[in-house]
Formats: sequence, structure tokens, C-alpha cells
Amino acid sequence: MTGIVLGSGLGPLADAVEVEREVSFAVAGLPASTVPGHSGKFVFGSLGGSPVVLMKGRVHLYEGHSPQTVTAGVRWMAGQGIKRLILTNAAGTLNPDFHPGTWMMFCDHLNLTGASPLEGADFVDMSAAYDPAWCAVFRKAALALAMPLHEGVYAGLRGPQYETPAEVRMLHTIGADAVGMSTVLETIQARSLGLSVAAFSCLTNWAAGISATPLDHHEVVETGRQAAQAMISLLGKVLAEDAKPG
Ligand code: HPA
Repeated sequence: MTGIVLGSGLGPLADAVEVEREVSFAVAGLPASTVPGHSGKFVFGSLGGSPVVLMKGRVHLYEGHSPQTVTAGVRWMAGQGIKRLILTNAAGTLNPDFHPGTWMMFCDHLNLTGASPLEGADFVDMSAAYDPAWCAVFRKAALALAMPLHEGVYAGLRGPQYETPAEVRMLHTIGADAVGMSTVLETIQARSLGLSVAAFSCLTNWAAGISATPLDHHEVVETGRQAAQAMISLLGKVLAEDAKPG
């Protein structure tokens, strides 16, 4: 079974799933998300004939939750038997070639939250955090769908304020292509549990200072909604290929 975490505005992905049952965050011991555009439930079903559990919405450090709470959904889904995890989010782009409204697959990340969900001496190897073989499958499927799919480095910050232009220049200098406020802790938790991870950012806006327009959360959610269809097609294709016999 594959776990899929849906970020801001990506709820429509759930409409592509044949739903078997739903479980509220509360039943799974998670707090409800307080962010507009994030509903709080797990949806079990199938996508492209392959079994999935969707996590609709997530909880964030910037809501005041601990790194352990932020990653509780990943541990819960692992307990339900997922072997692979697809993480999605909304992010600002700081790569001039990666335009808002397109998707970026993570090839790596910068965890700039100052936090980790791991306690004790869990020195988990992060040298191939995003499964290269699985990324190759997504790359090939995107090509077949003629879907633009960038690949780059995601910088995960705590937020909730958006970045200053100076911070965005710093992020660019240290190698980031996109910036957001989630995902990195979930990847760390998933790798420590031995799950394969793939992650995708919906690039909803130019990061601060790159364009003259100020950032607006509603615009972020709306752009995510419009770009969701491309990701639905990509995930549907990859999971349907998995479900084929042989
Ligand atoms: N910065 C941080 N998080 C975000 C952004 C951004 O520009 N856009 C969507 N999530």
C-alpha cells in the first residue's frame, strides 16, 4: 500500500480515489489542522487499481505542534502497512526556470526547520532520501503524459510567515529551488521507518522578492487547485502501472 499526503489546495486528488473508508485525524490520535485548505482525515481506497491511503491535510510546526506530532500521520500510515510514501505540498519557486503552476519532484532537501522527529541515536542515512529508482518511474511517466516535471531541491522552513527577499537570496545561494513549510520532517520520519519516499511541490508562486506581487495564501491554495489535475494524472498512471500483473 502507498501513503499519499496531500498539501494545500490538493484535496481534489482525493476525488480520483475509489474510497473504501475514512478515518478522522482524531481517531488516529492527530490534532485537526487549523490551516484553510487542509482538511483532517485519512482516506483508504484505490487509485489506478492500486491500494492507497490518503492523508488529507497535515499538521505543521508553525501551528505550534512538535516534530513528533507533525510526523504522527506518517507513523500511523506505516502502522497501517504502507511501504511507500508520496508527499505533496505547495511551495514558492526561486528557480527562474521553474514557473508557478508547474510541479517539482524533489531530488533532495534542505531541512532548515532546526527540528527533527527522531529521538535518540537514530543516525538515519539521508544520502538518497528520495528513492532514485522511484523518481525514475515518475520521470518516465511525466514524459509519457507530456507533463512538465521539474526536479530540484526543496528548502523546508518553519514559517508561518513567508520569507523575506534576503532569505530567498540566501536559499538560492545554498542550493534551493523551492521553499515551503512542510514535508522535510515527514521524509526524515519515513526514512527512519524504512519507507521509500517521493515528494512533489506544486509551485504556486514566485518566492518573495522574485516577483513584485506580495504573497497571498488564497492565491497559493487556488494555484494548487488548478495544478492538481496534472498530479492526479501522474499518480494515477504510476499506480496503475504498479497494479498491472507481472
Ligand atoms: N514560501 C513558503 N511556503 C510556501 C510558499 C512560499 O513562497 N508558497 C507556498 N508555500
